[in-house]
Amino acid sequence: MEKDLSNYRKSYEKGELLLENVPENPIELFRNWFIEIDTHFSIDETNAMTISTMGVDGFPKSRVVLLKKYTYEGFIFYTNYKSEKGKAIEANPNVCLSFFWHSAERQIIIKGKAEKISENLSDGYFESRPRGSQLGAIASNQSDVVLGRNELEAKLKALEAEYEGKEIMRPKHWGGFIVKPVELEFWQGRPNRLHDRIRYLLQPDYNWKIERLAP
Ligand SMILES: Cc1cc2nc3c(=O)[nH]c(=O)nc-3n(C[C@H](O)[C@H](O)[C@H](O)COP(=O)(O)O)c2cc1C
Repeated sequence: MEKDLSNYRKSYEKGELLLENVPENPIELFRNWFIEIDTHFSIDETNAMTISTMGVDGFPKSRVVLLKKYTYEGFIFYTNYKSEKGKAIEANPNVCLSFFWHSAERQIIIKGKAEKISENLSDGYFESRPRGSQLGAIASNQSDVVLGRNELEAKLKALEAEYEGKEIMRPKHWGGFIVKPVELEFWQGRPNRLHDRIRYLLQPDYNWKIERLAP
């Protein structure tokens, strides 16, 4: 089987990113882009991002998770600490996040270090989730092999009965990670493949060095 995609081509013309217009702090540029995307572009789940980890098997692996909070400190998402990604982060906290907002022709790539957030913060977020999602987090040993869908559904049903009328506490193996950035790259598609790429590098004095990269 073969399918040639060499004539899939698009000219990127929706914006520009100039050094003289970017803020000193990359989180502010992230915030500006995120709000613009949410307000002016039709993108489902603006907060969906790809996280790549270095696996304990020596392979990098990327998968999508949902960004649940960003602050000057970093980017927070929630997952199962015993999942493949959880184990990978435990062994090597260096991760890469990326966002591709295709209708705005923008990409952001963030290298950083992931660490568990406080138990209190994870509890707070877990409490805010719908009951179904809370039970789902307990029912699923994320990334383990299951015999069939039935097994998961039966487990969920049993948990629904067990927890009826009771408060559901966060399981200890489920919680948030914060990715504290050391490098962020903002990419804006431009015509003739002369795209704009602006990179922020964290310096030892915690200021950010800002540079333009060749496309
Ligand atoms: C749109 C979307 C959102 C997702 N959000 C999350 C999330 O917030 N947390 C999570 O653990 N998995 C999320 N997943 C599932 C992950 O992509 C992945 O399948 C799961 O975390 C297991 O990954 P692992 O086995 O590499 O640890 C999401 C998937 C998609 C497509």
